[in-house]
Amino acid sequence: MNITYDEKLRLFRLTAGDMLYAMAVTDGEYLAHVYYGKALPDEDLTELLRLDEPPFTPSVNNRDKACYMDTLPFECPCFGTGDYREHAVEILDDAGMSACDFRYVSHSITPGKPGLPGLPATFGREQDAMTLCILCRDTHARLELELRYSVFRGLNAILRSALVRNTGDKNCRLRRLLSATLTLDEDGYDMLTLNGSWARERHVERCRLHMGKQRVDSLRGESSHQHNPFFALLEQNGDEDRGICYGLNLIYSGNFMAQAEVDQHRTVRAQLGINPTDFTWLLEPGEEFAAPEAVLVWSEQGLGGMSRTFHDLYRQHLIRSKYRDMPRPVLINNWEATYFDFDAEKLLAIAKEAASLGIEMLVMDDGWFGHRDSDNSSLGDWYVYEKKLKGGLKPLVDKVRGLGLKFGIWFEPEMISPDSDLYRAHPDWAIRIPGREMTLCREQYVLDYSRQDVRDYVYGMLRDILTSADISYVKWDMNRQLTEVGSGMLPADRQRELWHRYVLGVYELMERLVTEFPDLLLENCSGGGARFDPGMLYYSPQIWASDDTDAVERLKIQYGTSLCYPVSAMGAHVSDCPNHTVGRSTPFQTRGHVAMAGTFGYELDVTRIPAEDRAQIPEQIANYKRYSHIMQEGDQFRIGNPFGTEGFDAWIFVTKDKREGLFTYVQTLSRPNVRSRRIRLKGLDPEGWYRCSDNGKTYSGAYLMQAGLRMPNLWGDFQSRQIYFEKTEQYKTEEEA
Ligand code: GLA
Repeated sequence: MNITYDEKLRLFRLTAGDMLYAMAVTDGEYLAHVYYGKALPDEDLTELLRLDEPPFTPSVNNRDKACYMDTLPFECPCFGTGDYREHAVEILDDAGMSACDFRYVSHSITPGKPGLPGLPATFGREQDAMTLCILCRDTHARLELELRYSVFRGLNAILRSALVRNTGDKNCRLRRLLSATLTLDEDGYDMLTLNGSWARERHVERCRLHMGKQRVDSLRGESSHQHNPFFALLEQNGDEDRGICYGLNLIYSGNFMAQAEVDQHRTVRAQLGINPTDFTWLLEPGEEFAAPEAVLVWSEQGLGGMSRTFHDLYRQHLIRSKYRDMPRPVLINNWEATYFDFDAEKLLAIAKEAASLGIEMLVMDDGWFGHRDSDNSSLGDWYVYEKKLKGGLKPLVDKVRGLGLKFGIWFEPEMISPDSDLYRAHPDWAIRIPGREMTLCREQYVLDYSRQDVRDYVYGMLRDILTSADISYVKWDMNRQLTEVGSGMLPADRQRELWHRYVLGVYELMERLVTEFPDLLLENCSGGGARFDPGMLYYSPQIWASDDTDAVERLKIQYGTSLCYPVSAMGAHVSDCPNHTVGRSTPFQTRGHVAMAGTFGYELDVTRIPAEDRAQIPEQIANYKRYSHIMQEGDQFRIGNPFGTEGFDAWIFVTKDKREGLFTYVQTLSRPNVRSRRIRLKGLDPEGWYRCSDNGKTYSGAYLMQAGLRMPNLWGDFQSRQIYFEKTEQYKTEEEA
């Protein structure tokens, strides 16, 4: 890991893992991208910018400067001075003019990784990270632009962010500031994005890049079910294990844009940042605005290599919770068990049975507060619904604790129901445009989290509940998106800041929560997995992946999610059948195997499920505990593809030392007259010997990875197998084993 600057060549080199990222200051003091890929020896790379090729050198040939501007691979392209591709920064100055032109001024290289005030960001010790900060200036607009680049030891990742500062004496409006722009020299890539809807989040789509702009984005106020702030560019003949791949992910939980543009010369401009639509930020003299951090990952081992870098980066440098490195308690959540129809007695019956089976925590979901019997009231009234919990929360929690279980609770702190005491007292606390009809969604409105008074009040209520009983876990939900985005507190020229101020408000409240309650396990949730983004991982080490708990649907959701998020962050539960979302029945064992590739738990009425299912729970939990370290801390290798036509999915987790592997195979529909398949495992030590838990035999790692493990067609639909491999010193025959 290193960052250097070659004074003569005016070349920056950032190295980490086995990658190199290079930029140069060009003629005219522009900062241009030179190279991002496998590390190269120390040599002159500036030729890659074709600086001598007329008309590409403005100082020699200025008559065609616009052509230069429209071709140079800018690190931070500006609007209005000749670069007609998608720009990263745009302003509106005091005179109503919109062009800007930032030129290189100076730079600093420092050990460590600074944070971003008010925003989630990666972190690292001084000896594990380095940061380059490049200062650029627009002398006409009197603005400064800081471009930050960080690297972490051993990781093929670059962390980027940008900051604009008004150093003049007049107001300026920032109309966009994207977090990262990356140029690829040719367009032979496919773009992979994660898209979907409620109950089918993060399905993978792969499309060939073509001329023009291809983008996913959100204007919903959160990262959303529909698109994730992620995309990958994978060489056209690349796949899970092969090919050059670039992954981009934004550490942000609000409106975003993620775009790739193929220009007239077939170079690719890949960009990521806050969605500029409906965004404007007023910068008064002396003020600054920081864009959220973007992650760029390079891999020469296809999608798999990219994913493993993301997983390591997030586990080591983004997730802060102490639970990051701890086995998570196996929980039971009452949502699919009871929905709103519960009381303390019912919960205790579930807790009692759960305790006897080895479950470790009861989570009381929606419906315990105000007078909430359905989803049409009480959000904002965070005090106990006495009809359901007689005598309050503490007696219930004490009894649950007495059974040896921890206790967790559900909140939806960003919301307000029209039918609530809070709304009756403070209708202006909802996000709204005064006089305009407010659009309802799930019968609720969104609180104006740009307001300190609103945040303080909500936090006070949360705090009162959390200190009233022994509570170990909070599920923080968010069940609608934003409309009529207006705030009663902001002046007209700051109204368009509300989208971002809302997100900053959410971050502030989460920060207060995890600071005051450091032992609390926080799980983020948004109508299932609508806020599964790296911003949230900074506060909550796990995120509910989807309201769809069907094991077969989950294969797709968890596969897509794993492209950039580690399984240690993926909330996954075993639920009852027929599944409440799709009506499908799958074996209890399969549901367990699929949920184990996540933060394992149950979401069913354990007192009412079939006895033969219930009987499997203790063994399921024991297996999860036995193997969770392999999944939580090891490397993940995807083997099957649930979006493919092969009729199965498979994956293996391997510990970093390659001593243990946990392989899971899920057959979807059973087919007649099909011969067994050879499934080639991945990630093992080819020179090592492994004992297979399924048949007790010993296989070489090379055999398992090159010849493959023979997997017969399983009898019945949705069957699964989980096989544990442990390194042994030597080969043993079946008889010896
Ligand atoms: C959302 C969550 C669910 C559940 C309900 C409660 O949909 O994703 O898990 O908590 O809200 O209303």
